[in-house]
Order: sequence, then structure tokens, then C-alpha cells
Amino acid sequence: MFVRLVLSVVLVGLSVSWTLAQTHSGNTKRGEKIFQQHCAGCHGTVGDGLGPDIKELIVPPADFRAVKSRTKTDMELYLAIKQGVLFSPMHGWADRLSDQEIRDVLNYIRTFAPFNPLG
Ligand code: HEC
Repeated sequence: MFVRLVLSVVLVGLSVSWTLAQTHSGNTKRGEKIFQQHCAGCHGTVGDGLGPDIKELIVPPADFRAVKSRTKTDMELYLAIKQGVLFSPMHGWADRLSDQEIRDVLNYIRTFAPFNPLG
């Protein structure tokens, strides 16, 4: 009896988290706001890497429209935002943006950097 109760609780938990995972993809509108607020200074309002704050940077920000970004998977870009890019002024945002906000802003970046594995 007890085992069956535990089992059904686990099963309900699993299906709830699966449903949440399905509905937790990014929201482009919210992502646009986050991007203009935190990212456009370097990456530019249109994602070309030509924002007003780039003069002092040792590594230029990514131009999201370029092949280098478009050939990257969502997971690669997601990790770059979350953990930052090593040896560059792109620091990780894990301490300032929630996981949902990172997904939102990633969705927005994908509007000018649609994934294209062939470049
Ligand atoms: C201080 C300037 C600066 C800010 C602010 C900034 N970035 Fe970056 N970003 C960079 C630089 C520099 C790189 C490294 C470019 C490279 O490696 O070619 C980079 C790389 C990236 C990459 C990896 C792109 C690729 O093709 O590998 C992503 C994704 C990214 N930034 C997203 C963001 C997001 C989202 C924000 C805002 C939450 C943000 N950046 C804020 C400077 C910045």
C-alpha cells in the first residue's frame, strides 16, 4: 500500500515536471526587453555586435547574424549566456538572470540568428 502511494507521488511529480519543461521555453517579447536592457550596449540593438559600449573591449562582441553564431545550437548559446565566454568580456549571467530569462533572451537572439547548421 505504502509503496504504491510513494510510486504514484513520484509519477505525478515526474509528469508535472515534464509538463513544466514543455511549457518553459523562451518568450521572445520578454527576451527583447532583457536584451535591450542588458545586452544591446555591447551586441547592438540589432545584434550586429556594434553597441555603443564596445570601444574599450579587448574582444569584440559576437555579431549574432554571422555564421559563427548561427551554426551554434540553442544549448551552446544558452551556456554562453549562462556561464559566459572564457577570456572575453562576456561574463556569465547566471547570477543576474533567471533560467527563464536566459531562455527568453535566447529566443530573441534566435530571431536575428536563426539556427543554420550549414552556415
Ligand atoms: C561587456 C559587453 C557584453 C555584454 C554586456 C554582453 N555581451 Fe555577449 N558577448 C560579448 C563578447 C565580447 C562575446 C565573445 C564574442 C566571441 O567570442 O567572439 C560575447 C558572446 C556572446 C554569446 C556567444 C555567441 C557565439 O556565437 O559564440 C552570446 C550568446 C552572448 N554573448 C549573449 C549575450 C546576452 C544574452 C547578453 C545580455 C544578457 C550579453 N551577451 C551581454 C560581450 C558582451
